[in-house]
Amino acid sequence: MQTIIVTGGAGFIGSNFVYYLLSQVPQHRIVVFDKLTYAGNKVSLQKAFQGGRVLFVKGDIAHAGQVRTLYQRFRPGFVFNFAAESHVDRSIEGPEAFVRTNVEGTFQMLEAGRLYWKGLKETDRKKFRFLHVSTDEVYGSLGPTGLFTEKTPYSPNSPYSATKAGADHLVRAYHETYGMPVVLTNCSNNYGPYQFPEKLIPLMILNALEGKALPVYGDGKNVRDWLYVEDHCEAIWKVMGRGTAGEKYNVGGNSEKTNLEVVRTLCRELQKAFPAKDNPALRQKGLSDYGGLVTFVKDRPGHDRRYAIDASKIRRELGWKPRHNFASGMGATVRWYLDNKDWCRKVQAGNYGRQRLGLLKKK
Ligand SMILES: NC(=O)c1ccc[n+]([C@@H]2O[C@H](COP(=O)([O-])OP(=O)(O)OC[C@H]3O[C@@H](n4cnc5c(N)ncnc54)[C@H](O)[C@@H]3O)[C@@H](O)[C@H]2O)c1
Repeated sequence: MQTIIVTGGAGFIGSNFVYYLLSQVPQHRIVVFDKLTYAGNKVSLQKAFQGGRVLFVKGDIAHAGQVRTLYQRFRPGFVFNFAAESHVDRSIEGPEAFVRTNVEGTFQMLEAGRLYWKGLKETDRKKFRFLHVSTDEVYGSLGPTGLFTEKTPYSPNSPYSATKAGADHLVRAYHETYGMPVVLTNCSNNYGPYQFPEKLIPLMILNALEGKALPVYGDGKNVRDWLYVEDHCEAIWKVMGRGTAGEKYNVGGNSEKTNLEVVRTLCRELQKAFPAKDNPALRQKGLSDYGGLVTFVKDRPGHDRRYAIDASKIRRELGWKPRHNFASGMGATVRWYLDNKDWCRKVQAGNYGRQRLGLLKKK
């Protein structure tokens, strides 16, 4: 049975990817390697464990010994590196963990991977692939027009994006220097099931349901290109299967929205699924729709104004395009959070109280 390693598989995109893989590869074993930080939770994989093909190993990608053992013990054909510290606001408060996991961790995954790959017999060596999952944030911020292409120079502005950029450079260097068969994806903002409630969309849904303020940063006009997570999973799988070693692929939803538009859309979807007039928390505040909860708060330091992806390369070369549009994806996401209150409670318990993060402290 061939083995696929998924690092960070207990996080948002990683867990969605494990479910996606289970539907695509009935004959493979999937090994999830995850440190279980505040953002990772085995409860997200509960259904995935039921079929007996998913194995969980708790470990740290920045720990050289653990990573070496991972390769030697499971002898993977494919490795997907999702594990990362991923929240920009947290990177402003504490960048060190980001350097350790995103840069050092990617290095350990590459270095142990390279030694393992070199030792494989020729037929297996030819098939082996390492896919690194990255972000469009490495490219920096756009003005009102233009798109990020694979050739856009890197210009990261937050500790998060700077560490992801460092990792991307290492991935590329391992191909150029050692010929290691790596591929890289740079994706725009994802949304969908199992996203930890610190990120914009789940934070807003859960606050809205409880009648709490919906805090929009700055003027709410920062633009992101939104992609439903399942579409990202399909893109990653296509790049692994058919992408050219050493190449990078931008992935995006062709769905630019301001943060305010995102919040207004999710308020509309909530209104359809659970009207404010039926929600005691809203009734108590005398509100007949969720939009009344929107408040504008101090902006994030160094907040990038606009990201937008040119995904024509992956469309042209690998035939990928998103299946979901923003309205259908948001509808599905809102319904998922309404139906999975128990998951929301479990992942936040003793861990996170939806407080504001990432403001610079005054001395
Ligand atoms: N969320 C997005 O919109 C988005 C967009 C583009 C790219 N990405 C990238 O996709 C990947 C996954 O993002 P996400 O949103 O699912 O993140 P997430 O924060 O939800 O999950 C990260 C997972 O990695 C694990 N992890 C953290 N440090 C680790 C370590 N040292 N060793 C092993 N496991 C560790 C966590 O426990 C968690 O399960 C990241 O690399 C991120 O940069 C995310």
